[in-house]
Amino acid sequence: MKFFVDTADTDAIHELNELGIVDGVTTNPSLIHKSGRGIKEVIAQIAEMVDGPVSAETVATDFETMVHEGHEVAKLGENIAIKVPLTWNGLKACKRLSGEGHMVNVTLCFSANQALLAAKAGATFVSPFIGRLDDINLDGMDLIGDIRDIYDNYGFETQILAASIRSVNHMTEAARIGADVATAPPDVIKKMAEHPLTDKGLKAFLEDWAKTGQSIL
Ligand code: G3P
Repeated sequence: MKFFVDTADTDAIHELNELGIVDGVTTNPSLIHKSGRGIKEVIAQIAEMVDGPVSAETVATDFETMVHEGHEVAKLGENIAIKVPLTWNGLKACKRLSGEGHMVNVTLCFSANQALLAAKAGATFVSPFIGRLDDINLDGMDLIGDIRDIYDNYGFETQILAASIRSVNHMTEAARIGADVATAPPDVIKKMAEHPLTDKGLKAFLEDWAKTGQSIL
């Protein structure tokens, strides 16, 4: 499973990128707002920093303006994935932009039927939002599984980009089900390294080591 980082915080991206675990970055209007920076400046910087796809989201709701915005954000780097919402106009824009050779990430996907349409419209990525389904007492992971089954039934090449990931359990489950990509906030990715038995074991080893009076260096 590929790891995308869901943030527009360039310091956080840099730290994870140094570890070699960043396969791409996703942003959205809320994350751009949180960064306090201009979308063009911050997306261009991120696209320069990472080798993989960097999703930049359009904000128009009509087809023509959405395509125009897509062309604008695509100029910010060679690795830009144009993000469009899973609306009828978004699907039309996806078809146009993917037909022109752009990577397209169709976002705000909440049903298997929506994901089926995104694949038919030539999406590079479809982004089902796990956490937001869990928020309304549905099971976001069921959706990932349904899309995996449907795409595999027909050999669709659209990549399932598990989004709205809120916990380390979401990461495990997305990987187990076979999501192609998971995009998660930096703190969730860092928490994947944590385990209380690791901490406990390390503490005991260090206490015993101190008793030996030895030094490796
Ligand atoms: O990738 C989409 C993601 O940013 C949405 O996450 O936590 O706002 O539902 P969240």
